[in-house]
This record gives sequence, structure tokens and C-alpha cells, in this order.
Amino acid sequence: MEERLPGGLSARDFLRRHWQKKPLLVRGALPHGRAWLSRRELFALARRPDVESRLVERRGAHWRLERGPFDAARLARLPRRGWTLLVSGVNLHDARAENLLRLFDFLPRARLDDVMVSYAAPGGGVGPHRDSYDVFLIQGPGRRLWRLERARRFARVAGAPLDLIADFRPDTEYLVEPGDLLYLPPGWGHDGRALEPCFTYSVGLRAPRGAELATAFLDYLHERGFPDAGYRDPGLAPVRSPARLPEEMIAFGMKTLRRIRWSPREARIFLGRYLSAPKPEVVFRPRRNVPALAGREARLDAKTRLLYSGRRFFVNGEDFLAPPRAAAALRALADRGRLDG
Ligand code: SIN
Ligand code: CO
Repeated sequence: MEERLPGGLSARDFLRRHWQKKPLLVRGALPHGRAWLSRRELFALARRPDVESRLVERRGAHWRLERGPFDAARLARLPRRGWTLLVSGVNLHDARAENLLRLFDFLPRARLDDVMVSYAAPGGGVGPHRDSYDVFLIQGPGRRLWRLERARRFARVAGAPLDLIADFRPDTEYLVEPGDLLYLPPGWGHDGRALEPCFTYSVGLRAPRGAELATAFLDYLHERGFPDAGYRDPGLAPVRSPARLPEEMIAFGMKTLRRIRWSPREARIFLGRYLSAPKPEVVFRPRRNVPALAGREARLDAKTRLLYSGRRFFVNGEDFLAPPRAAAALRALADRGRLDG
């Protein structure tokens, strides 16, 4: 069966016409007019220390950002208007959010980041901003007005707690209703204002950045062990300019650096580990009694990132080579998130 974007457009057409090119609005893409997460449940998540949450309040022309976890008294003190509570990584804690992520299985898993859920009071929003990644914004209960501006070099608001656009000149407006889906490519300016209490579910994408990759690769090489040798200078003669760097020392440094080697195989293993690594705030809790698998369905834990390349599997930043007979089953588990016992 042909893969489809929620709402009917074929994944192939979506990727060709919109992906990383221009926004797409799909009316009634998902039957999420019903809240699958209540305000009470979202507030409960925002109180947990192992969940990343933020509160954005608008005070006239100023925006205030507070980071969670929040205590019950703080959440009870919220005014009637002008704030948004944002909870990231909801898919790690709630199977319904994980199901939402699975709707985008036509994209490589290594590109999918998380589901963020926001709840806004009337007038609430996070202000005009740009995100560096693609995002699918699915409207839950309540209506929101989105204003967009094509990606360009935006001026930033100096000294603001949020990365806001100072010279936002939106050219498109969409009033989204429950179940509507809005796709935004990276860099597009956007500002969503809640018209009434409303939920927005953001399926966020991720993409490695070159400099981050390089830094992580150097860490990996460090762990693996660098070629080691001590500097020796048995032929040292008295110096007249003691602050001058000795040429022999520079030559030694260069020679040592040139001895750092890696193979394409090692780089592949590093990339798989890097792309499957969980975020720092993710906490795994081992199960006490793991039931026997035979005859049951095995499910991948929502916190587990399982990726593969050939017979090499990458799980939460580690890797192993699967025996040929197990590889097909493991690939199915990685792709679908479940497997017949
Ligand atoms: C929100 O849910 O209010 C913000 C989502 C976004 O703009 O990325
Ligand atoms: Co955004």
C-alpha cells in the first residue's frame, strides 16, 4: 500500500512538493478534535523532573519564559489569558503520542525527534519565531490562528528569553481547527495565537549539524583511544629565547595528529550510535518481571531508539551485530515498533 500523509496526500507527492520547500495545510487530517490528553494529564507531566516543560507568558509586549518542573501551586496560579504550557517528549511517556509519531513512518526514524504538546489559554502563544527543523503542527481541541512568513534572514529580539523575530511580516494566515495539520519547513517564521483554550501537538524533526557531529566524533575517537607517545628531547641545547615554541615540539604535535586514523566502518558505527542516542533527560527504568515472549507480541519501549544499517543494530547509543537469522525480525521490530512473539 502506498504510504500517505495523514489526511490523504501521498507521501511521495508531499515529499516532492512540500518537504523542506513550502508549508502545507491539511484540513481535517486527523480525528484529534477529541483531546487524547487532558489538561490535567499535561499538567501532571509538567510537574515531573524527568520531563522537559516550559511555560511562556505574555505580558504586554514582553514574554516570560519559565522552565519546569512546576509545582501544583504554580500551575494553579495561572491567569485566564496569555500563557502556553509546552511539554516536550510526550511520546516517551504516553503511548497515544507514540502512535501519533508512527503516522509519520514514511520518514526515516533517525529524522523523527519527538511529540511536543502545548496547551494555551486564550491569547496564548510563544511569539513569532523560527525553528531550525521541520515540524508538523497538529491542532487538537480549540482553534488557533497561525501567521507565517517565508524563511529569510530575520532580525532577532535582543535580550529576550525566547528566540523571537523582531521584524516579523507575516504574509499568510491560517485559522486552524481541531484535526487540521500544518507542515512547516525549517526557517519559516511563524506565530500561533490561541483563539480559545487549545492544544497543539508538534511532531518535530531532527537533523544532525556538522559541527556537533564532528565534536561527538572526536569524543568517540577519544574513548576509543588516540595514538600515544611522549615527547622527548635528549639533544636539547641551551635556548636564548625561552618563550619561543620549539620547532621540534610543533613537529612532534603534527606527527601525532597525523597518526589519528579512522576507517569508514568506524565512522558508520559512530553515526549509528550517535543517531540512536537518547536525549540526556531520558531515564530508563528496568522492568522487574519480564514475561516470556513466546506467543506474545513484543513491543519496543517508547524511549528506545533502535536503528540499523545492514546487520548492525544501534540501540540507545550502543551497537551490536545481529546473527543473520535474527536480523530480519529485529529489523521488523525497529521499523514497526512491534513484533509477533
Ligand atoms: C506551540 O505549540 O504553541 C508552539 C509550536 C511551535 O511554534 O513550534
Ligand atoms: Co515553532
